[in-house]
This record gives sequence, structure tokens and C-alpha cells, in this order.
Amino acid sequence: MPPTIDALVAALEGAGYFADRRLATAAFLALKLQRPLLLEGEPGVGKTELAKSLAQVLGRELLRLQCYDGLEQREALYEWNYAAQLLHLRATEGQAPAEDIEREVYQPRYLIRRPLLQALQAPPPGAVLLIDEIDRADEPFEAFLLEYLGEYQVSIPELGTVRAACTPVTILTSNRTRELNDAVKRRCLYHWLDYPERERELAIVRARVPEASAALAVQVAAFVGQLRRTPHAAHFQRAPGIAESVEWARALVALDTLTLDPEVVQDTAGILFKQREDVAALTSVLTAELLHEEAQS
Ligand SMILES: Nc1ncnc2c1ncn2[C@@H]1O[C@H](COP(=O)(O)OP(=O)(O)O)[C@@H](O)[C@H]1O
Ligand SMILES: [Mg+2]
Repeated sequence: MPPTIDALVAALEGAGYFADRRLATAAFLALKLQRPLLLEGEPGVGKTELAKSLAQVLGRELLRLQCYDGLEQREALYEWNYAAQLLHLRATEGQAPAEDIEREVYQPRYLIRRPLLQALQAPPPGAVLLIDEIDRADEPFEAFLLEYLGEYQVSIPELGTVRAACTPVTILTSNRTRELNDAVKRRCLYHWLDYPERERELAIVRARVPEASAALAVQVAAFVGQLRRTPHAAHFQRAPGIAESVEWARALVALDTLTLDPEVVQDTAGILFKQREDVAALTSVLTAELLHEEAQS
């Protein structure tokens, strides 16, 4: 792993990810202390991307568990391949004592490994385990996860206990659609990932959309920043994230835009906002105001 926080910042940047000092410190400590890192923040601020970039930097395999309402252990951890077990039973029916057949049916080759189990069994140097959008899963699942994160081992009744050969680097993300269990939070290092400051957003836009002119990239970063800070932002259902800045820069290049003007902003509002009310809230008056402020700053 990178020996210092600065080295980690540089390595992440090499992988196309721009982290500020506090985020890099949190990630560095998570690596050093082998603790899970919980990243909370609005959608599109770079939570998922951090896990991907860390995997790249560390030369580790990325294993991703996308959470959703109703997610169950068998989709997260493992399940038995019933169809294959059944075929095995059919093929061996009457040829061996029942206990033998039962043992044969619960062989590792009939085990379907899901991300949490895969993470325990990943070959050195181990995996990066991304437990994405944990706030979408329900509380029983969170309780189960607590146990997993505490011990990094699982017991499979038919096979025994599986322990992590190498502790996975674990990143949990949450869009904070609900509060997480306190016990889960206590087990993790915590970082609130905010919208980037202007310089960093500019660096991201420039790196991701190199075809945009320097002037246009500056305008995009500044305008989106203003959009999030304006008092009107309190009424937006969902402010644009970094993903939207990047998309917007691409769209503007596709339209051969050289500099922002109210008309092009209005015409492309559907890239910045994904809610009808938000698009409507970006009135031509507000657009002109923001462009004016931007020109002044
Ligand atoms: N710090 C960053 N450096 C580079 N690109 C970033 C950064 N943060 C976000 N991005 C860009 O924004 C996109 C959305 O980020 P993502 O990680 O999916 O957001 P989240 O998981 O927080 O909703 C990424 O695909 C990436 O292109
Ligand atoms: Mg995400």
C-alpha cells in the first residue's frame, strides 16, 4: 500500500480519482488499521468511484455488493446450487447410502459464492469489498453485516467455518436515505463526502473530459458550484453531483459550446437535473443571475 497519505493521494490521482486530504486520510487509516470505511454523502460525489480507484491502486480485485430492499444473505454470502444438487441426486439415486449422497451433494463445487464469501476467499493480496448503498438494505441485513464485519468469517453449516485469508479492504457507502445502525457505524471509520471545492471539481472535469477547452471546464465547474450554493438550492430535490458536471461538460463539447450562455444552459438543464421540478426551477432569470455571479468571481 502507499506508504503515506500524500503517496495515496498521488496514486489515486494516477487512477483518475481526485481526493482531498481528509478523504485520503480516512482511506489511509482504513487501510492501515484494517477497518471498514463508511462513506456517506449525496449521490454522485464519488463514493463508489473511490472503492473502484482504491482497488486499482492496490492491485486488488473489486468485489461489489449492490444493496437493495429485500437483499438476502443468499444473494450476499452464498447459496447452494439446488438444480445441480438435484441432478447429482438423480444420477446417483439408489447407488449409494443416503448419508454418502448427502455428503456428496454439499461439496464446495455446488456452492455459489456471492461477494461477501468471495471476499473472504480472494487470493493474496485480498480484495476490495464494496458494500454499495447499504442504506437501501433493511435492518436485519445490517445486523447480519455487523457480525461479518466484526469477524470476517462465516460459518457454513455443511462445510464449516471460512475465515478471511487476507482481510478485505471494505468500503461501505450510503446515500443517507435513512440513518444506519449505530453499531455498524461504530465498527467503521466514518467520512462524510461533500461536494468538491471548485479547484478539485475543475481537476476532475479536465481529467474526465480532456476534449473540453480549459475555459469551458472552468465555467462548468464554477457554474455547477454556484448552482449548489445558491439559496435556491435548498428547493432542489437533488443538486447535481460530480457525475452531472462531467456529463454536462461532455454534452457542451458535443454542442460545440465555447462559452456558457443562458440559452445553452437552459437547453441542457436535463443533464444537470433529473427531476422535472428542478429543471423548471432553473429559470432563465436564475441562470442569468448565476452566470453573472460567476463572471464576477
Ligand atoms: N473524486 C473524484 N475524482 C474523479 N472522478 C470523480 C470523483 N468523484 C466523482 N467522480 C466522477 O463522478 C462519477 C459519479 O461518482 P460515483 O462514485 O458514482 O458517485 P456516488 O457513488 O457517490 O453516487 C464517477 O463515475 C466519476 O466519473
Ligand atoms: Mg454510488
